[in-house]
Amino acid sequence: METKPLGTTTESVSELCLGAMYFGSRIDRETSFELLDRYYEAGGRFLDTANIYATWVDGYDEPESEPLVGEWLDERGVRDEMTIATKLGFSYGDVPRSLDPDLIEQEIDRSRDRLGIETIDLLYIHVDDPDTPQVDVMETLAGAVDAGHVRYLGASNVSAWRIARANRIAAERGWPRLEAVQTRFSYMIPDRDAAFGGQLPASDELIDYCDQEELTVFPYSPTLQGCYGREDRPIPDGYVRSENRHKMELVGNLAERKGVGGNALVLAWMLDREGPTIPVVGVSTMKQLEANLEANEISFTDEERKRLNEIESLGFGEWDLRQE
Ligand SMILES: NC(=O)c1ccc[n+]([C@@H]2O[C@H](COP(=O)([O-])OP(=O)(O)OC[C@H]3O[C@@H](n4cnc5c(N)ncnc54)[C@H](OP(=O)(O)O)[C@@H]3O)[C@@H](O)[C@H]2O)c1
Repeated sequence: METKPLGTTTESVSELCLGAMYFGSRIDRETSFELLDRYYEAGGRFLDTANIYATWVDGYDEPESEPLVGEWLDERGVRDEMTIATKLGFSYGDVPRSLDPDLIEQEIDRSRDRLGIETIDLLYIHVDDPDTPQVDVMETLAGAVDAGHVRYLGASNVSAWRIARANRIAAERGWPRLEAVQTRFSYMIPDRDAAFGGQLPASDELIDYCDQEELTVFPYSPTLQGCYGREDRPIPDGYVRSENRHKMELVGNLAERKGVGGNALVLAWMLDREGPTIPVVGVSTMKQLEANLEANEISFTDEERKRLNEIESLGFGEWDLRQE
């Protein structure tokens, strides 16, 4: 599997990141291990989890994803080969939704413990916290990097201006910056007023900022539950509008013409972006994983790329206009 740069860190990571959200809960241990093994065999070396995964699933009050990933790393003896990303900031159990410095430190230690690793390779703040000064958040994160508990930093579900501000604060003080942005980003674009809980959809500004300032974009829920290739998954709520119907039609037609799956085609479209973009891929079966790994093999002609991007695409807004 090819790699893409992780922000300005000078390191590169697998261009498809495997999401472990439901590993150990909705997806049982045996299947999760099989998926991890196959991803590894395909050359994948980059896993995504979070302290809260997946405590909202009935019957799973405790985090199961991090311990499962930790077990797999240990049993396979591959910790040193893998990049492990996790996140903190959302509420679960008795932990409130917050980026309070004490909570950040507590949750970093808990994640390290559950994962059985000394250092978290990439730590995201999972959500913003308007009540904790950003300077305190960035100072605490810098302390965690300094202590060797975390290598690189990222943000998820945080608006572009707040990420830019956090990075200005870090730059002024010589602290490490946010290098990665994980955002709800797919080929279809949601309605402006669609709500997804604490999940923040990507905006033109966010993608433009990442591209210009060399932050890697990590689209999560990239296939919108597999809807680009499944009859049983219609266009999801919050996405039902005419541009998206055109997009679905185009994906269907192109996929058929190229003899590939629609979901893999959408992942390939993300990989094809000029700014480094690494989809966080969610799957529950081997068949889905195999289908999505195909994204690595799909390329586009100039004409196909133009057609895909001419129906309202993110990251092509303000900057292009300013350049004219
Ligand atoms: N930062 C955040 O706030 C945030 C939020 C959400 C997710 N994430 C991360 O992103 C990862 C992926 O998110 P997601 O699970 O929401 O992604 P998704 O791409 O929206 O959905 C994944 C689901 O889509 C279906 N699917 C995917 N590929 C398919 C294919 N080729 N054919 C048929 N069905 C297919 C499967 O559904 P079924 O299992 O139902 O068959 C699969 O479980 C998570 O594991 C997590 O690491 C982060």
